[in-house]
Amino acid sequence: MENNRPEWSSHLSFIVATVGSAVGLGNIWRFPYIMGKNGGAVFLITYILLIAFICIIPLCSELGLGKLYKKDVINTFKSIKPKYAWIGWLCIITVTLIPCFYFVVGGWILNYIWVFLTGNTAHNYADYFNSFSSQIYMPCFLTILFLLMTAIFPFRGVNSGIEKANNLMMPLFVIMLLILAGFALTLPGAKEGLAFMFKPDFSQFNKTMILTALGQALFTLSIGMGTILTYGSYMKENTNIVKSAYTLILCDTFIAVSAGIMIFPIVFSFGTEPSAGVSLAFISMPQMFAQLPCASLFGLIFFVLLFFASITSGISMLETTVSAFIDNLKISRKKATVLTVFIISLISIPASLSFGVLKYFKIFDKTVFDLLDYSTSNIFLPFNTLIICLITGWCIPQFWKKVFGEGFIGGLFNILLKFIVPIILIFVLITGI
Ligand code: PHE
Repeated sequence: MENNRPEWSSHLSFIVATVGSAVGLGNIWRFPYIMGKNGGAVFLITYILLIAFICIIPLCSELGLGKLYKKDVINTFKSIKPKYAWIGWLCIITVTLIPCFYFVVGGWILNYIWVFLTGNTAHNYADYFNSFSSQIYMPCFLTILFLLMTAIFPFRGVNSGIEKANNLMMPLFVIMLLILAGFALTLPGAKEGLAFMFKPDFSQFNKTMILTALGQALFTLSIGMGTILTYGSYMKENTNIVKSAYTLILCDTFIAVSAGIMIFPIVFSFGTEPSAGVSLAFISMPQMFAQLPCASLFGLIFFVLLFFASITSGISMLETTVSAFIDNLKISRKKATVLTVFIISLISIPASLSFGVLKYFKIFDKTVFDLLDYSTSNIFLPFNTLIICLITGWCIPQFWKKVFGEGFIGGLFNILLKFIVPIILIFVLITGI
């Protein structure tokens, strides 16, 4: 089984695919509005510090596990000790639950692409979004369509599916983002938007903001669910983990900041609230595009960009589960993909209906969509990440030396891995629950 494990055809393909996984709705949709809600520049500084010094550790741990064991997430933990297989299963549950709400948003994106393609832009988007998302059939259909479009790539395999998709979509994505960000900078609100992002107001600094920044950092780096581990297991033997991890972090942060540079000047030019929340991408942005010359063109670029970002992340979520099904259920890649699609479609339908007929169906006071979003981001991710740090720090002899190398940096990372990061994660978990 190990011998015919796929391998990225080049180091660049590996980096592009992991960046494709990391860069997603988390960067373009979630990051700007969370930053908007948490005071702008102060949040950005906290986030960058957390990502560079804290999140780098579990990121390296997952890449290291992938490189050392070259297995799917369940067999990786089984190889460390058979009784640890449950950790792998927990990762698989998490990474199968995330697309169940993430792809609902993917379905909305498909709908907006259609709206801007047909040039039908004269809507009141608040009413439009609410009436569209509360329908029964169309949002469900589009969620499943998005799921199927994503599943084509893991179905075709690592080299001829996943790698090709990322190598094509990621460069297009970056070009579109830079075009929109460049355009946003020419708007009258550019100065105000940039000041909001880069001029810190330290009175905004507080505990909740730090926790939110950490949760966002874990989510955006796709840490804590075996995705990075799975992509890492396809890496070439001579890949340097710490360097790859920092490259990934740099690209991911660059894209999140560019997304902010694209969004905030527009927000301030049209007098919208930067903290508009979930609705920022689906109500405020299209509303603003509609007032610009070439409305359809800018709207279309924005939603195609969101589409590329979300599909490349979606591919990595599905691949984590598919890879685990192939090796543990001993089925072919094609059957494993069909099984994954089947499970996700069952759960994503009630998630999609959470905005309409199931609006009042609540578990723990949350709709199915909110419950999936909240429990994965605030409980499963930090919990799984904590376990991954503890296992790699304490249960695999010399793991840190193999991954971080010896010397001062290696030693420092070892202390972070064994003590500091776990303590912070326990703190996050207690507060999150
Ligand atoms: N990192 C992705 C984003 O920012 C989300 C993701 C989560 C991707 C889990 C893969 C696995 O949108």
